[in-house]
Amino acid sequence: KVAALIGVPTDVGAGVRGASMGPEALRVAGLARALARQGLRVEDTGNLGGPFNPWQPPLDGYRHLPEVLQWNRAVFDAVTAQLQAGRMPVMLGGDHCLGVGSVGAVARHCRRAGRPLRVFWLDAHTDFNTARLTPSGNVHGMPVACLCGFGPDALVNLGGAGPALRTRDLRMIGIRSVDREERLFVHEQGLDVYDMRMIDEIGMRAVMQAALADLPRDAHVHVSFDVDFLDPSYAPGVGTTVQGGPTWREAQLCMEMLADTGQVASLDIVELNPALDVRNGTAEAAVQMVESLFGKSTLVREKPPTS
Ligand code: ARG
Ligand code: MN
Ligand code: MN
Ligand code: MN
Repeated sequence: KVAALIGVPTDVGAGVRGASMGPEALRVAGLARALARQGLRVEDTGNLGGPFNPWQPPLDGYRHLPEVLQWNRAVFDAVTAQLQAGRMPVMLGGDHCLGVGSVGAVARHCRRAGRPLRVFWLDAHTDFNTARLTPSGNVHGMPVACLCGFGPDALVNLGGAGPALRTRDLRMIGIRSVDREERLFVHEQGLDVYDMRMIDEIGMRAVMQAALADLPRDAHVHVSFDVDFLDPSYAPGVGTTVQGGPTWREAQLCMEMLADTGQVASLDIVELNPALDVRNGTAEAAVQMVESLFGKSTLVREKPPTS
């Protein structure tokens, strides 16, 4: 299988600048080599182009909406092209607004192929804001809402008419920061959220078993890995750190149990901000997590002991 690395140097959706340097930091941290060690062929397609960050205040509830749209069109087209070529797209973000184009393209691809889709949103945040609900106007706090049909027409209908995703195709892990009004909307829409409290109470293993319980054998698994999913003690290099994330081992187990499905078919690595990092350590942590996501294991294991 060929992994196609797609650099998306944007920070137009974020409230802090610097995620635009994420793609290069992931390369420097050895992402391609880590994937190759797990038996993938890797082709780095370079970086997509897009508008610079105009650093403007929100307009009608959105910051930089035209720029966000332009980046996402490029992402959508690039991901679609790689999927059509039978490759596994790996987005090197870039802020999480790119999830609209990335997951959007994967969802349309799966629908055309009649293949079920499961999206695992690994994040401290639910990213389920709308222009009405958002406290910041930052679109990286809105991609899940846009994908589910709640957002500006241009983003909702990016790859065709109608929402890309059904809420029941989503699983969210590691959540610990949801805005006041966003929280009600998450509840209303019935998102399947495994928050930190649940991880505390039943442990990551049971959480992942529950999140994977009804995964169809033929499903395409997309992982949208917001690096702020990790506890800030390992991942200080993100714009929106939230205390109390998964421990190193919990995060590893989450990745390993996803790897055990053998069904991970596309990936976003987002929100890495080298301007806030210490010696590229957060990029290196993200690379280690991704290596586990593609099957790195201490011992030779017969069968995944998941059930
Ligand atoms: N909920 C906050 C907001 O809407 C933070 C979102 C952070 N999102 C992210 N992808 N890091 O502004
Ligand atoms: Mn395909
Ligand atoms: Mn986040
Ligand atoms: Mn996010």
